[in-house]
Amino acid sequence: MTVASGAPSSSQALDPEVQEDLKRAVAKKAVEMVQSGQIVGLGTGSTSALFIEELGQLISKGKLKDVYGVATSYQAKVLSRQAGIKTLSLNEVNRIDVAFDGADEVDSQMNLIKGGGAAHTMEKVVDKLAKKAVILVDQTKVVSQLGLVFPVAVEVLQPAITPVLRSLLALGGEPEIRSALRKDGPIVTDLGNFIVDVRFPNGIKDAAALEKEINNIPGVVENGLFTGFVQSVLVGVRDGNENVVV
Ligand code: 5RP
Repeated sequence: MTVASGAPSSSQALDPEVQEDLKRAVAKKAVEMVQSGQIVGLGTGSTSALFIEELGQLISKGKLKDVYGVATSYQAKVLSRQAGIKTLSLNEVNRIDVAFDGADEVDSQMNLIKGGGAAHTMEKVVDKLAKKAVILVDQTKVVSQLGLVFPVAVEVLQPAITPVLRSLLALGGEPEIRSALRKDGPIVTDLGNFIVDVRFPNGIKDAAALEKEINNIPGVVENGLFTGFVQSVLVGVRDGNENVVV
């Protein structure tokens, strides 16, 4: 993980344009890691969208050949098609060389909170299957402790929602079913499930243990804690001279 010295501590709000510049810089740096012939996992969210755009540009300029994407969501698939990246399903590939994905929070151990885009289940499958998972974030995502700001997204089978909420409360969390913007009902994931956002007001002390505990609840499909497998995090930072550094 690269964090320029003097970087403001995470969760400090940034001007949206500056944040977008940082995400773009990280996306541009990340595409340099892709090689012709590779099968690439494609994450979901605004940072991954910029990565997909940059990757598409290298492919359309002929700088990268025979690159295929494995999309982690409907959104990633549509964006890949628009960018000119051919995609294959997980069932059509025998490997994923490298996966690029965003995150909502990342700590110094490269443990993550993901799921702001409700795609963490397939993101975890793709990122874990990849020979290498590379996480792309701007400086606002780097935290000293996971969970103080961002809730843990939990994907839940619809018919099991009430007992799962009870179990999440028993774990000390404050669960809330994620609703659509217009508040006219719960959002439904690409996989047909509900999302419960669980706040842990004192932060998360043992993310690896909590990841397992939540997944042990019957009816939980997957949660947004990603612990112990990410090998590389690229962080876009605005340095003291207002330059963007990755
Ligand atoms: C989607 C995710 C995203 O990677 C995460 O929410 C970060 O998104 P963004 O790059 O838009 O900040 O986990 O499920």
